[in-house]
Amino acid sequence: MLVSVQQIEIGQEQSQRVEEIIEAYKHKPGALIPVLHEIQNVLGHLPMWAQQRVSDAMKIPLSEVNSIVSFYALFSEKPKGKYSIGVCKGTACYVRGADKIIEQLQELLGIEAGDTTPDGNFSIEVVRCIGACGLGPVVTINDTVYTRMKADKVKAVITSLIKQAEGGG
Ligand code: FES
Repeated sequence: MLVSVQQIEIGQEQSQRVEEIIEAYKHKPGALIPVLHEIQNVLGHLPMWAQQRVSDAMKIPLSEVNSIVSFYALFSEKPKGKYSIGVCKGTACYVRGADKIIEQLQELLGIEAGDTTPDGNFSIEVVRCIGACGLGPVVTINDTVYTRMKADKVKAVITSLIKQAEGGG
């Protein structure tokens, strides 16, 4: 694969930002979560190379860093899609059919929950309760919250986003 000069520059810029964040926090106690959070804000996710840098610089075993990243739903090891879809699987949403919504999204997008489409446009994540339990099943797409989701509504929303993505919108 060809890597452009611009991509290399972006990569260097990101890795420099990661170093600056680590430097700013590394002597502060209990800084692991804020460091990971800030790095994710810069990179969009927490790839293994960034976790390794945090582990080396903060002298925290990589296994510990990785277990924090895996445990907290707010952290992601994989890049999210341009449209990042979250499906709440808290009790109220689950009872109202969140599983069927997940199945339908998987079918429409051809990926499993936790994955991103190869074109980088969509990712599906299962999330915990977001506090709108009376309005479930709840789905979030980036900053938009969709309530009382049903099969036909999911299909309409995703179909329209696929069109937008294909049209570059
Ligand atoms: S259980 Fe889904 S919003 Fe609370």
